[in-house]
Amino acid sequence: MVLLKTMSAKSKYTHHQHSGIAMPNNSNNRKVLLDEDGIPKEWYNILPDLPAPLPPPINPATREPVKPQELERVFAKELIRQEMSQERWIPIPEEVREVYRLWRPTPLYRARRLEQYLKTPARIYYKFEGVSPPGSHKPNTAVAQAYYNMKEGIERLTTETGAGQWGSSLAFATMLFGLKCTVYMVRASYNQKPYRAILMRSWGAEIYPSPSNKTNFGRSLYEKDPNHPGSLGIAISEALEDAVTHDNTRYSLGSVLNHVLMHQTVQGLEAKRQMEMIDEYPDIVAGCVGGGSSFSGLFWPFYYDVYVSKKAPKKTKFVATEPTACPTMTKGIYTYDFGDTAKMTPLLPMYTLGSDFIPAPIHAGGLRYHGDAPTLCLLLKKGYIEPHAYNQVEVFEAASIFARTEGIVPAPEPSHTIKYVIDEALRCKRTGEEKVILFNLCGHGYFDLQAYLDYFEGRLQPFEYPEEEIRKSLERLKSELPWIDQLPYLKNL
Ligand SMILES: Cc1ncc(COP(=O)(O)O)c(C=O)c1O
Repeated sequence: MVLLKTMSAKSKYTHHQHSGIAMPNNSNNRKVLLDEDGIPKEWYNILPDLPAPLPPPINPATREPVKPQELERVFAKELIRQEMSQERWIPIPEEVREVYRLWRPTPLYRARRLEQYLKTPARIYYKFEGVSPPGSHKPNTAVAQAYYNMKEGIERLTTETGAGQWGSSLAFATMLFGLKCTVYMVRASYNQKPYRAILMRSWGAEIYPSPSNKTNFGRSLYEKDPNHPGSLGIAISEALEDAVTHDNTRYSLGSVLNHVLMHQTVQGLEAKRQMEMIDEYPDIVAGCVGGGSSFSGLFWPFYYDVYVSKKAPKKTKFVATEPTACPTMTKGIYTYDFGDTAKMTPLLPMYTLGSDFIPAPIHAGGLRYHGDAPTLCLLLKKGYIEPHAYNQVEVFEAASIFARTEGIVPAPEPSHTIKYVIDEALRCKRTGEEKVILFNLCGHGYFDLQAYLDYFEGRLQPFEYPEEEIRKSLERLKSELPWIDQLPYLKNL
């Protein structure tokens, strides 16, 4: 790893000696590009570097931490090993890097037109993950997960999808490694985004709107209401049930778990080098949080600089954004909760709105999850992350400003971060601060045009989630599992 301080004296010239670079620090440049040798060779695992040990997942039957063997019916063995690994750097297999070459390294853009429009002294950069074939950051982990499952002889993967970004990514990745793929897509999204389902089918996956009549759990809801809008929690339950009731089938998750977030660090590792090349370092790293994978993938490598190697030239602030309709970080409660609605998963330590929470049908489908990644929640609890929540009307207003200045139509999820970035840039305008802001444009919005239409025609609701509902949902959990409060792991955090 080239250190920032040693780079600064050299970074005004047009070619660096480390691989993958051709970019002068020229004030007119819009993009910072790495060539394919610049694809990272290792993922960064934050587990050994957290400020406190990560509370373990709990098996509700034994009330004990989950043992790796208990997960083998669900996940590939190598992914379980990675989930629990305390190694800081994990090698990326060459076969995975080979697939990453299809779109990685992704460009780092300077949002000059947005800056000019806002008349801000802030310098705004975004890492654009929308250049991947499925259009988001999600294939960074889908490719790795499909690869390890293929190596272990698994023939089919099942999963859930909200916005359709994750389902498309797993459909794409399984196709490349010769596996079958079954996707349970939240019905509200399936109806809003039919083209996402067609994309998945183009890559050979089979798709069911969830709740479906394909699983026992899905049927129990579908028979009562065939138009049930569904939720990520329900779709996860269906995908899990399908995986554990069929041979040679495993389940694949697109966010929340440690190994998933770790695979996403290719973004932050590349972004760090790209910023080095132009002699910049972010004051703020911002991203949206559904489960936390895109944001963690970008900020973990900067966290490493600030808190672990302590080589960062600034005390970078980490800002996470979310919808007011699903306010896990700003209004959720830090406790153990199930990851799905049918309560099939282990109990995870996280900020949660309750696993039976059904969010309002906002267009940022990828942010409609009742919990967040345990690593992210621990960092939030310890004060390392600043969360902000926005309603979808203000989010689409920000997204439209971005589309009309930078040209790219952003996905609804990262548009929550764009709202924050615009507010912060305007604050800098008032104070005259030249803050360097880096954010994650983790997906494009070309399959989300219905959402834009609803915004232009004034049909979007600025949903807020009632706090009373969160309290009721968690009271239900506590009356069912009264021993949760006695678990020692969250004490003293
Ligand atoms: C474009 C996009 N951004 C963000 C998310 C939220 O997930 P995560 O917080 O894991 O990045 C999703 C999830 O589907 C997504 O599709």
